[in-house]
Order: sequence, then structure tokens, then C-alpha cells
Amino acid sequence: MSALDPTAQSPILTHGIYPYLAARCSPPDELLTDLFEETRRKLGNLSVMQIGAELGTLLTILTASTGARRAIEVGTFTGYSSICIARGLPDDGHLLCCDVSEEWTSLARHYWKRAGLEDRIELRIGPAAATIAALPTEPVYDIALIDADKTSYQTYYDLLLPRMRTGGLILVDNVLQDGKVLDEQSPNADVRAIQAFNEVVAADERVQAVLLAVSDGLTIARKL
Ligand SMILES: C[S@@+](CC[C@H](N)C(=O)[O-])C[C@H]1O[C@@H](n2cnc3c(N)ncnc32)[C@H](O)[C@@H]1O
Repeated sequence: MSALDPTAQSPILTHGIYPYLAARCSPPDELLTDLFEETRRKLGNLSVMQIGAELGTLLTILTASTGARRAIEVGTFTGYSSICIARGLPDDGHLLCCDVSEEWTSLARHYWKRAGLEDRIELRIGPAAATIAALPTEPVYDIALIDADKTSYQTYYDLLLPRMRTGGLILVDNVLQDGKVLDEQSPNADVRAIQAFNEVVAADERVQAVLLAVSDGLTIARKL
């Protein structure tokens, strides 16, 4: 069987195995649980935009284990993923958060303070493409998370890649779109954008990429 066999199946992500494994990751602490619940209480259905707890744990592990010092996040919402990334940084590390919403990120600010992380997190409000484009094109970032409007993922990736150091990681959330990426006739603009984006990253010789079936799909692209 070819290593790229398109009929390849996962022998493990079936029969309800995902809930099993998600429940057997280190649990979120009280602060993350409070943030998750407060977001749900205040924002109702919009709270599904928060990343899953298992992905949050993975973000902290990746940030800490790569020794990342400078991080950037596109799509902060109420702060769950930003806290997970910031917790993996050293005390003098820095996370730049990009979002358009003052309202949603005000809750993030509250929790950054409670977590004692406000000194290492900077928030810039405005369209993320403009925020990133205004940054120097120096390859300074060690880790990046893309988790904002899906139709702009390609733009964010293209803007971020030159700003990543060699060996730096770009992490991209929601690349499975609840499984809708398999629908080649999908009329949904987000799904179509992610389908195209996934093809581009897989063929991009500037990175080594892997698409993991964690939460709604996470691509990890390591800059070569
Ligand atoms: C899926 S949520 C992010 C969830 C967050 N990572 C978390 O863990 O809670 C997407 C966020 O992207 C933001 N967003 C949407 N369009 C944007 C844009 N053009 N520039 C910057 N942020 C944007 C939204 O305001 C929203 O907070």
C-alpha cells in the first residue's frame, strides 16, 4: 500500500473513540473551565467558537516543547486558545493577539489578568490581515495559530509564513469543517475556502505539514 493511499482509513477514529480520547487528556484547570462556562453563559451558541479543551492542551504542549518565545494568534474571541498558548511561553515570552471584536476580547482581557498573563499578551483590534501586513517581514515568530474567518485563511497563512522563523510552526484550526471537506460540491464558502487551503498547504514545499484529526482538524505546518 502506498504511503499516500487515498483509501487509507484510521483504525482508531471510529466507534466513538474520539470522545474516549478527549476525555483522557489532561483536564482543563479551574480558570479555563470558568472561561469556557462564562463564555457559554454570556454568548450562548457563539461559544462553540472556543477551541476544544484537548486542542488547548495540545497548544500549550507545542508552544512549551518547541521553546517558543514569540507567538501570534489570529482569532482570539474570549481568550481560550490565547491562554493555552501564553501558558507555554517563558515569562519573557510574547503573544500578539489579532481580533476585530472589542466586546468578545474584553472577556479575554479579564481572564488574561486573572491568569497573570497580561504582561505577555498584546491585543490588536482590527482586521487581522491589515495587522499582520503592518508587522515587519522579519522571521521572528516561533508559533502561530490561525482561527478566524475561514475565507481569509490563505491570506493569513501567506502573510504569516515569511514572518515565521525556520522551524517555526503555523497551526491552523477547523481544517475538517465538521467533515464537510469531503463534499466536493459544497455550496458553503467556508468549506470551499478550507478545501482549497488544505490542498495548497499539502503541496507547499516551504513547509512540512500534517493534518491531525484533533477537534475539528488541526494542520501543523513547520517552516523549512
Ligand atoms: C473561532 S473564533 C476564535 C476562537 C478562539 N481561538 C478561542 O479559542 O476561543 C474566531 C474569531 O475571529 C475573529 N475574526 C473574524 N474575522 C476577523 C478578521 N477579519 N480579523 C481578525 N479577527 C477576526 C472573530 O471576532 C472571532 O473572535
